[in-house]
Amino acid sequence: MPGFSTRLIAWQRAHGRHGLPWQGTRDPYRIWLSEIMLQQTQVAAVIPYYARFLARFPDVGSLAAAPVEEVMALWSGLGYYARARNLHRAACVVMEKHGGQFPVTAAALAELPGIGRSTAAAIAAFASNERAAILDGNVKRVLCRVFGIEDFPGERAVEERLWALAESLLPENAEETGAYIQAQMDLGATMCTRTRPTCTACPLAARCIAHATGRTAELPAVRARKTPPRRATRMAVVILGDSVLLERRPPAGIWGGLLALPEIPQDIQIETWVNRNLGTDQTITQALPPLTHAFTHFTLKIAPWRIDIPAAPRTLSEPTWQWLPLDQTGAAALPAPVRKILEGVIAQIKERSFHG
Ligand code: ADE
Repeated sequence: MPGFSTRLIAWQRAHGRHGLPWQGTRDPYRIWLSEIMLQQTQVAAVIPYYARFLARFPDVGSLAAAPVEEVMALWSGLGYYARARNLHRAACVVMEKHGGQFPVTAAALAELPGIGRSTAAAIAAFASNERAAILDGNVKRVLCRVFGIEDFPGERAVEERLWALAESLLPENAEETGAYIQAQMDLGATMCTRTRPTCTACPLAARCIAHATGRTAELPAVRARKTPPRRATRMAVVILGDSVLLERRPPAGIWGGLLALPEIPQDIQIETWVNRNLGTDQTITQALPPLTHAFTHFTLKIAPWRIDIPAAPRTLSEPTWQWLPLDQTGAAALPAPVRKILEGVIAQIKERSFHG
């Protein structure tokens, strides 16, 4: 997308965040400290911690020399304390492996404890103009919206695509990398927010697929649900003359209060069930086409069985059962799959009488 970085940088100059305590330095130690503190923590919360921390540990040597307990104490209240432990460990590594010189390449930075690929790129860009792309949560959100990426960005393959896209969007001129990265961070944090983004003032709105299609609320996509569990059941379509046997469902649960078909438990033979519940052996049974119905939390596979009985049982074995004339089922409160099954049976019966 031509102009992507140019627009962002111009927007950052006019509307981005400026004058923050870690801006305007090229000292990788200070930049690193700010980036670690800013991971999952808002700018406003970080500012006083950053000042106190630097006052006590002005360089990587003083940090490495301190007992870890003192580092933890200064971090106290910022949260995510693994960051502080890794900070101290990384300072020790810089002293031991880099002779006290804080590295400024993304590759070397990414080797240090607590520095992932995106943070390494940010530090390298701010400290030495290295052309390295970042891809934190904010940037993922912006890219998914602008480019209309529908897939869940937490998925490995999608993330790889986003990295490639992020790299392709870097400004040609390495001198602009720092400004561009700051622009991405500011846009994601202040404008292209997760909820209620400020699209009217966004420098990318004119090219944003999510904005153009009204889908900022749907993008980025959330993790796809695991495929819902499947359940199976058999349903009896007991036909007696012009009537069908229906069951009033209990008020709570699936199809609460609706009229549905009686279920035949999986562990019993159809004939046995008919004999026990309808008091007859003289039946014609026929498997009808199965259907599946999606509920919120599972998928139900229904195997309907048509069961024609010659005479009414003296009593119905379940108090929730009732006979309903087939021509009244259209107006009854039936769940959609039950309605569909009954429509099939009614069509069968009509067909039969038509052909004699
Ligand atoms: N979040 C992470 N790094 C940041 C930075 N340099 N400025 C503002 N917010 C950030």
